[in-house]
Amino acid sequence: MLNALLDRCKEEWQLALTQRKHPYRFFVLGTVANSRPELRTVVLRDFNSDSMEFTIFTDARSSKVSSLNKNETVEILFYNPEKLTQVRVQAQCVLKVEDDILFNEQALASQKDYTTNLAPGSPIDSVSSVSFLNEEHHFLKLVFQATQVEYLELKRPVHIRALFKKEKERWIGEFSTP
Ligand SMILES: Cc1cc2nc3c(=O)[nH]c(=O)nc-3n(C[C@H](O)[C@H](O)[C@H](O)COP(=O)(O)O)c2cc1C
Repeated sequence: MLNALLDRCKEEWQLALTQRKHPYRFFVLGTVANSRPELRTVVLRDFNSDSMEFTIFTDARSSKVSSLNKNETVEILFYNPEKLTQVRVQAQCVLKVEDDILFNEQALASQKDYTTNLAPGSPIDSVSSVSFLNEEHHFLKLVFQATQVEYLELKRPVHIRALFKKEKERWIGEFSTP
């Protein structure tokens, strides 16, 4: 049953890539900046079940990138409100890459997200003051590789909690008290 839990998580992450309403399509990414946790919602863009890698896209000028440059350790949180399931993933940022080909594959509306004139978070007078670059972009692909997965499912008569750790390229799991 333990292995089935991790396998189910992997299946859900795969499904989230194509099902727009899947609860794992959006997840919370936690980084650390000067010993302070920073959380934000991001979109799951790719998942590799062999390497246990999660991919997101972002603006290279965003605060999360500066934080990752100093500390590559992250925590990733998935939550399914219907199944009352929470999956917490400890991971390392293993890749930060500017990818022109991937950028050009994105829908035009999505491309705009990475082409604001000012860096994300810069103060502006009003929402209509946002202006965009013409040629340049700041699209960045980030890849996070999991080192630990904690699964929690609230259900009666007993909740299910299990911890999976990567040890010498193998994932070892154990149940824990919920
Ligand atoms: C539904 C939703 C999806 C989002 N998806 C992304 C995303 O995929 N990538 C991203 O960089 N920011 C995404 N954001 C914005 C981030 O939550 C965050 O505000 C932004 O990246 C700036 O964060 P930072 O200053 O910590 O870098 C999303 C926000 C929402 C509400």
